[in-house]
Amino acid sequence: MVSVGILTVGIGGNNGVTLLAGQIANRRNLSWETLSGPMSANWYGCLTQIPPRGIHGGVGFQGRYDLASANDCVVGGWDIRPTKLGKALYDCRVLEYDLVRQVREEMDGVEIMEGVWDPSFIGESQYETATNVVSGDDNASTRARVERIRRDIRTWKEKHNVDGHITVIWSASVERPSEAEYESADELLNAIHDNGNNDDISPSMCYAVAAALEGCSFVNGGSQNTLSPAMSALFDQSYRQPNVQPECALQKFAPYSSGRAFCLGTDYKAGQTKFKTAAVEYLRALGLTPRVIASSNHLGNNDMLNLTTKKTLNAKMRVKSDIFGPWQEENLDHKVMVMYTEMIGDEKRDYVEYTSLGFLGSPHTMVTYTRCMDSILCVPLMVDAAIWCDFFVNNNVSAKDAARATAYLFKVPEGAAKGVDPGFFHQMRQLEDVLERACGGKDNKEGDDLIALGLRKGIISEEQATKLRELASK
Ligand SMILES: NC(=O)c1ccc[n+]([C@@H]2O[C@H](COP(=O)([O-])OP(=O)(O)OC[C@H]3O[C@@H](n4cnc5c(N)ncnc54)[C@H](O)[C@@H]3O)[C@@H](O)[C@H]2O)c1
Repeated sequence: MVSVGILTVGIGGNNGVTLLAGQIANRRNLSWETLSGPMSANWYGCLTQIPPRGIHGGVGFQGRYDLASANDCVVGGWDIRPTKLGKALYDCRVLEYDLVRQVREEMDGVEIMEGVWDPSFIGESQYETATNVVSGDDNASTRARVERIRRDIRTWKEKHNVDGHITVIWSASVERPSEAEYESADELLNAIHDNGNNDDISPSMCYAVAAALEGCSFVNGGSQNTLSPAMSALFDQSYRQPNVQPECALQKFAPYSSGRAFCLGTDYKAGQTKFKTAAVEYLRALGLTPRVIASSNHLGNNDMLNLTTKKTLNAKMRVKSDIFGPWQEENLDHKVMVMYTEMIGDEKRDYVEYTSLGFLGSPHTMVTYTRCMDSILCVPLMVDAAIWCDFFVNNNVSAKDAARATAYLFKVPEGAAKGVDPGFFHQMRQLEDVLERACGGKDNKEGDDLIALGLRKGIISEEQATKLRELASK
């Protein structure tokens, strides 16, 4: 069986442990009690895992395309905090206790790889718990750190028999922006190879570069500037050729992978921002002119605590404020405020008031209020990002199409998706468009997808699949 790998940087954080708990709950088909009655494991919110609903197909891609099942994923990762993952899940109070109770022991047994970190990049609130960190020779230079992460990826892959595509997801604390700037992949690699730590290369850049060299995709779920044109160029398969010229910096990191891998980000568009891009799309579709969008949210999780430091808050505010740019709405007064309120924990509350001008300039005002556990909003995007990466790698989808198709996952889509229409539904259509065009339309692929699904699930043999394909093509 082919298993997709999800390597999470920040596995001990709220998102990391919720992802792991969700995967275990689904794999073990668990049920648990809640205040509103019994609940059983599901992948709600994960578009790659739910079948289409309704007469028009609509949302949900499982069964329409040969997407890997998240039940078969292997989840692992790094954290600078040593807290056992079952205990971290209990502490973060995201999931119902009756579920936590059932997965805690298995989660406590999952290895937490030591994290590469640099205190200058994240908030002081994280220092006290940062004891599970790479040290000694492996931390002596940026190059040593990158090589350590590469080794971690290879060892983990072998240990867990991961034979599908691996995606490394930055789900660690938001970093301040790095000041390192490179014109090309060669420059970036040379800086890593030669430098003695003077280049302001962030830990997230080390993880991203290591992922590229190992042929893994990298997803930046945080708000910092990990992705850059030089980083994207490193992921480009045409750069990571098997036999590059001797002067190419890649030679210094041989052996490296020349496999297809994507570099996607930046910052998950999970809750408030996602709804704002859908709501403003709606207002614009009505022909109204949005003039004031005043938004605030408050919560008390560890991610928000890290953002109480100015250097990291600035990185978050940049991506939160920058979401309507391509619409070029003149005179749009867009305000964003975030507040740390400890008692609220992970259950974020968000308020947005939209005031637009309607017919004859008369005002139209609406307010939205949303409450949801932050990690419940975010984890499905982590799952989908990894499953899409695996699918796009297997179907030879170009980096450009992969970036366009997954733009709906990110606050600031990067690479080829830079500057795309920010509207949520526009971005969903873009995903459909890439799937139809790059992977074959629904109609002509449906038979093929079902056969591949049967093969993947072990329901039919290779021989039977070949016969069925012959029949389907007649
Ligand atoms: N939850 C959401 O809705 C949402 C939405 C968009 C983006 N995000 C982003 O996702 C990320 C994770 O969110 P969270 O709520 O799980 O945060 P969290 O604070 O609970 O977890 C972050 C984890 O990262 C670890 N960490 C920090 N630096 C590290 C390093 N260099 N290497 C390894 N581990 C490191 C911390 O110890 C912590 O356990 C954050 O960057 C957040 O801004 C979350």
